[in-house]
Amino acid sequence: MIRVEKSVEQAVYINRVRDILASRYSDKPRAVVTTFGCQQNVSDSQRLKGLLLSMGYELTEDPAKADIVIFNTCAVREHAEDRVWGNVGSMKKYKEQRRNMILAVCGCMVQQKQVAERFLKSYPYVDMIFGTQVGHRLPEFIYRRLTGERRICELALENKPAEEGVPVYNDGGFKGFIPIMSGCDNFCSYCIVPYVRGRERSRASAAILAEARQMIAEGFKEIMLLGQNVNSYGKGLDEDISFAKLLRMINGIPGEFRIKFMTSNPKDCGEDLLDAMRDCEKVERHLHLPFQSGSNGVLRRMNRKYTFESYCDIVNAARERMPDITFTSDVIVGFPNESEEDFGKTLELVGKVGFSALFTFIYSKREGTPAALMEDPVTREEKGRRFDRLLKLQEENAKRVLGSMIGKTVTVLCEEYSGGFVFGKDEHQLNVKFPGEEGLIGNFAKVKVTAAEEILIGEKI
Ligand code: SAH
Ligand code: SF4
Ligand code: F3S
Repeated sequence: MIRVEKSVEQAVYINRVRDILASRYSDKPRAVVTTFGCQQNVSDSQRLKGLLLSMGYELTEDPAKADIVIFNTCAVREHAEDRVWGNVGSMKKYKEQRRNMILAVCGCMVQQKQVAERFLKSYPYVDMIFGTQVGHRLPEFIYRRLTGERRICELALENKPAEEGVPVYNDGGFKGFIPIMSGCDNFCSYCIVPYVRGRERSRASAAILAEARQMIAEGFKEIMLLGQNVNSYGKGLDEDISFAKLLRMINGIPGEFRIKFMTSNPKDCGEDLLDAMRDCEKVERHLHLPFQSGSNGVLRRMNRKYTFESYCDIVNAARERMPDITFTSDVIVGFPNESEEDFGKTLELVGKVGFSALFTFIYSKREGTPAALMEDPVTREEKGRRFDRLLKLQEENAKRVLGSMIGKTVTVLCEEYSGGFVFGKDEHQLNVKFPGEEGLIGNFAKVKVTAAEEILIGEKI
C-alpha cells in the first residue's frame, strides 16, 4: 500500500529515473532494503521503499537478483555496527556478478565521520552513502548514479523540518508508524543518537492528523507514534501543541484503532500525558519508559535528569489513574564505573515496579560520546554476570505480571493464526493466544484470560 500525502519535491527525479529504468530494463528492476536498528529506521525504510516503488522498482528480499540494495543502518551499539560491516562485505560477490547493481548504505551509522571515511576508503564497491536527514532525496541520488556519477556521498545534517509528502510503503499490514518528531536534544552521555540524527524537529500536527486519518480510512488498526523523545513533541513549532494534546486529537478521530507511542523519556513524562492516556480510550494501557539505571549516581553521570525516586513517582501517578497499566523499559548494565551497589539499585527498581518486559543492554562504548572518556574498571565478565542476574529477576517479575491477568478480560488485536489458535497483543502490550479462526486476523477480539504460561491464554467472549 502506498500513501502519497502531497506532491513530492523529488517528483522531477522520480520521473527521470522511471524513464531511464524503462529504457534499460525489459522487466521491472528489483530493489532490496535491509533495515537495522529501531522503529525510526523501520519507518524511514518504509519511505525509501515508497520512493523506490514510485520510480518503477519492484521490492524483493533476494540481493542476488537485485538492481539496487540499500542498507539502512544503526549505530547505537557496537554489535549493531558489526552486523552492518559483515552484511556490506558479503555484497562484494553480488557486485562482481552484476556490475550495474547499485549498493547504498544509509542511516545512523554512516552519519559518523570515521564510518563514512572507512566506507569511502575501504569499500570501493559501495556506490552511495547518505545520512539520516536526506533520505527523501533518494530519487535524485539514483538519477545521478544512473547518469554517470561514480560515487554519491550526502551527509548533510541541517536540522530542517522533516520532508512532507514522501510516499510510504507500509509493509506492516494493518499496523503502521507515524513519525511525529525526529532527532534528539538530550545528549545522554552514552548515546550516539543526538550526533547521528541531529536536533529535535517536530512535524506540524495538521500533517500528522492528515496521515492518521488517511491510515484509518485505509483500515489500519494500530498506529504507532514515533520519536526518540515523544514527550517533547511540539518544541519549536508555531502552534500551541504538546504530546498530550496530540494524543487527544488523534484519539478523537472516529474509527476502531489502537494508538501506541514510543519513546517516552521519564524526565519529560508529566501529569498532562498521564491524564491524556487515562482519558483516551484508544491509547494502549502500557507505557514504555526507559529508566537505564536505578542508581542516582549513575543516572547523573548518564545525564538522564531524573532519579530513582522521581521515576517511581511517575509509575505511581500512572497507576493511580490507570490501575491496570503495564510498564516496559530499557536498561543499561555496566555503564562505566557502575559499582555492585549501583547495580543493586537497578535490581531494586526492577523489583519495585514489576515490568512486564525489559530490553536489557550491556553498555557499549560509542566514540565521540562523553561516556567513552570515562574510566571503566569493571570487567566484561562481571558485567555479564550482572546482566544474567537482571534477566533472572525479570523472568520472575514477568511471570508475576502475567499471572495477575488471570480472570480479566482484555482486547486483543489479532495478528497471526496457527493450528486453530489466534495470536495477538492486548492493550497492555501482552501477548495473548486463544482458540479462534483465521478470519479474526486484523480485528479486535474480547478475550477472557484463563491461564498464564509464557504468554496469556484465553477464550474469546
Ligand atoms: N530515545 C530512547 C532510546 C533510544 S536508544 C530513550 O531515550 O529512551 C534505545 C536504547 O538503547 C536506550 O534506551 C538504551 O537503553 C540503549 N542504548 C543507547 N546507547 C547505548 C550504549 N552506548 N550502550 C548500550 N545501550 C545503549
Ligand atoms: Fe539517546 Fe538519551 Fe536521546 Fe534517548 S534521550 S536517544 S538515550 S540521547
Ligand atoms: Fe539505531 Fe539510529 Fe535508531 S542509532 S537505535 S537506528 S535512531
